[in-house]
Amino acid sequence: MENKIKYVQLSVDNKEECAVFEKLMAAYVKELDEHGHDPMPEGFLQKWIKSIISIQGASDRHLELCYDGDTLIGFLYGKVDHEDHKGFVKPGYGYIMEFYVKPEYRRRGYGRAMFRRLEWLLTHDGADKMYLTADPVTGRPFWEAMGFLATGERSPENKMEIYEKSASFDWSGREKLMPLTEETAAEIGGWRYESPYDAYSFRGDADSWLMDRSTWGTEQFCLADGDRIIGHVTCQNDGDDLWVGWSMAPRLCGKGSGAAFVKKCVTGLRRVTGHKGRIMLRVAAWNQRAIHAYQKAGFTYVETIQDEIAYSDHMEDFWVMELKSVN
Ligand SMILES: CC(C)(COP(=O)(O)OP(=O)(O)OC[C@H]1O[C@@H](n2cnc3c(N)ncnc32)[C@H](O)[C@@H]1OP(=O)(O)O)[C@@H](O)C(=O)NCCC(=O)NCCS
Repeated sequence: MENKIKYVQLSVDNKEECAVFEKLMAAYVKELDEHGHDPMPEGFLQKWIKSIISIQGASDRHLELCYDGDTLIGFLYGKVDHEDHKGFVKPGYGYIMEFYVKPEYRRRGYGRAMFRRLEWLLTHDGADKMYLTADPVTGRPFWEAMGFLATGERSPENKMEIYEKSASFDWSGREKLMPLTEETAAEIGGWRYESPYDAYSFRGDADSWLMDRSTWGTEQFCLADGDRIIGHVTCQNDGDDLWVGWSMAPRLCGKGSGAAFVKKCVTGLRRVTGHKGRIMLRVAAWNQRAIHAYQKAGFTYVETIQDEIAYSDHMEDFWVMELKSVN
């Protein structure tokens, strides 16, 4: 189911898709009215739909039409709240604004698959938690089945109860190791990590190694899922060994995804380099979070060495770890 659905982000420039959305949205609102929501005056409804359409394509909102083959199933609409957004906001939370499966396609798992897609988009935008106000008839049982819990708090906007759930980052299976490009290197150059991991923050200066174009696609890559960058990945051959390094995007760190990330990087590196031998890495001895992820991904301790830390002449203890060859 998950990979069967095609998602099309609405764009104000695509008149055909906008017309499709207008119709769906009108049916959705009509149904919510029947479920006891405050009915919307006709003139206002049209204006509201147009105002939603007018910001699609050029904003951080995800309004996607969902198709199974050529069949239109429904739509999803969400965003991550920021302080400067209008109205009631919960900064940092993913907000599921509207969500609709056409009546004839319900109870076949489409809603669940579409929700997973939206959760994926919201966690990639940095959300740790999600919230929504649940329609009392079809919404509430569905969202409860998705793991949302009532908070007891009511939205000052529609007076409906707010439901919440933690957002967990999930892998789509479409992650790929790609050569760095101007665009991806520029994004990675802006990555900053929170203390005590700030030493790993990137420096996107023109003379930094990250910006050395001769290494893009040979020694430096990004792990990406479509246009979403998940990590920066490096490798260098030394004799029979491949020495590697990687950094996961700061917004995805601390969510228990480290070992899965490392495994994806290893698989990608073996594929692009053809290297079957030992894979080696060096990690600061104090960085137990990373060491734990490496151990879970199959790396084992080799020795402790003293070395300089990046951008300074300060010496520190590092663990050397290895992952055995594959046959
Ligand atoms: C809510 C909605 C999106 C669910 O879509 P769906 O495709 O039917 O959902 P799924 O088939 O993936 O349902 C997943 C699970 O949710 C639960 N669920 C969904 N709808 C339910 C209902 N009406 N009653 C009880 N449980 C329900 C079930 O556990 C279901 O699993 P099951 O079918 O194996 O029992 C759809 O009913 C809808 O669009 N309703 C109108 C608009 C709406 O209410 N939107 C939400 C606004 S807050």
